[in-house]
Amino acid sequence: MSVAKEIERRRTFGIVSHPDAGKTTLTEKLLLFGGAIQVAGAVKSNKIKKHATSDFMEIEKQRGISVATSVMAFNYRDRKVNILDTPGHKDFAEDTYRTLTAVDSAIVVIDVAKGVEMQTEKLVEVCRMRETPMIVFINKLDREGKDGFDLLDEIEEKLKLKACPLSWPIGMGQRFQGVYNIYKKELVLFKQHSKHADEEDAIVISDVNDPILDEKVGEAAAAELREEIEVVHEVYPDFDQEAYLRGELNPVFFGSAVNNFGVKELLDCFVEIAPSPLPRETDLRKVEPSDPKFTGFIFKIHANIDPKHRDRIAFLRICSGVFKRNTNYFHVRNEKKIKFSNPTSFMAERKEVIDEAYPGDIVGLYDTGNFKIGDGLTEGEKLHFKGIPSFSPEQFRYVDNADPMKSKQLAKGISQLMDEGVAQLFTRQDTGRKIIGTVGALQFEVIQYRLKNEYGATCSYEPINLHKACWVQCDHAAALKEFIARRKRDIAYDKDGNLVFLAESAWTLKMAQDNHPEVEFFFNSDMV
Ligand code: G4P
Repeated sequence: MSVAKEIERRRTFGIVSHPDAGKTTLTEKLLLFGGAIQVAGAVKSNKIKKHATSDFMEIEKQRGISVATSVMAFNYRDRKVNILDTPGHKDFAEDTYRTLTAVDSAIVVIDVAKGVEMQTEKLVEVCRMRETPMIVFINKLDREGKDGFDLLDEIEEKLKLKACPLSWPIGMGQRFQGVYNIYKKELVLFKQHSKHADEEDAIVISDVNDPILDEKVGEAAAAELREEIEVVHEVYPDFDQEAYLRGELNPVFFGSAVNNFGVKELLDCFVEIAPSPLPRETDLRKVEPSDPKFTGFIFKIHANIDPKHRDRIAFLRICSGVFKRNTNYFHVRNEKKIKFSNPTSFMAERKEVIDEAYPGDIVGLYDTGNFKIGDGLTEGEKLHFKGIPSFSPEQFRYVDNADPMKSKQLAKGISQLMDEGVAQLFTRQDTGRKIIGTVGALQFEVIQYRLKNEYGATCSYEPINLHKACWVQCDHAAALKEFIARRKRDIAYDKDGNLVFLAESAWTLKMAQDNHPEVEFFFNSDMV
């Protein structure tokens, strides 16, 4: 197959949702359709169990298992689908944010009863910022939940998406009879726990006025559906693939993942409309997947904290050209040549050494500390990929050295953990004290444990009252100087030397913004 065909057939995406909306279940059903797994339950080990939310060792153990399911690839029809795992657990939100930089589109799963939840809002915001095309799947229609139109309102208001229903439910909970596939004009009737919603399950009807509808779902339900579909057509835009690809229109599907219902409609439509690998911006030029020379970037580093298996795997997203095993590539930041003898691909539970990979693919590289998140690999070009930002952390603590004999080890350990993206380090301008900022509280424990076990260093924490750390930029040198002088106590630098404002409260942040209109405040480092 030509490289162009290989690129065209790839669909690399992530599923985002609030925990418990059904992401794991949906992933599993997609893998079943793709033949990547044969039995249900295979992906469950990937999920961080609820009882483990405060026990990070337990979580790490489960994360260890999850390396293999970080990327799940399968073939469906003539497409190659790469699903990137995006943990819903809020303490791993930053992992998820970064994984979203490596996808070309996303599926958003919403629980019909709970509607739009907090974590979904945050993750969708990240996707929206990147103009990632998103499809929404409203799950658990076999249960009583919110009204379809209310959910669409929520999707538009809270997620700021432009909903475009491509399927519509016929009843819900006890009365759930199936969905009408608006996109294909098909009626799909619900069977509880159907193994596969086969082609036979779909009844093609000319439109909702087809009398077959009354016959199949009963007159009352048919009348209700007709009314609702009329409203859908009146209120919501017709599907426009270009608008979807621009991130301006969001198809919505209804179904029940656990019952494998509505999943095939979603997958069929997804492989048809979702984008093949998209170009990526760099500081030099836009990298097109069709560019003949290989380029890629590291978006995630997984370190195994089990001392018996202390391997690090760096996840590489291929952006252009063909990646080949045992070939010398250029590590742009280190300015060094590097080659990989055991690059791995991930096919659900299986890991395999690969000889070649194409744009859109994710390759796992064994790493001994060469990589840092955002690093690029090329055939020699010194380009830096954009859009792999650090996000403004939400939890902060001072970090101090508790063992003066081990200060070097501590510095090295902290630096490497920051490279992996475990947390962010800021240095206060006034006192030089170091602050660690994380998205989740669990990371503080992880850092302490790993510093001790991997670097022999001991750190202690001291609480600090901070609301947000945001990156600042200002084109007027004088205004910036004044800002730094007036805000001496609130200025810090991140580990790349970028200027950061430490806001004690939402009010201080607002005051700073109001008093210094020339200064721009950013909530992720990429905008600086
Ligand atoms: P997550 O990855 O988004 O966190 O969610 P997950 O798929 O694990 O699903 C969370 C719970 O919701 C699971 O139940 C799962 O079985 C259930 N679920 C998923 N899809 C549907 C659906 O379409 N209808 C209904 N009624 N339930 C659904 P659990 O009891 O937490 O776990 P389990 O014991 O069933 O594995």
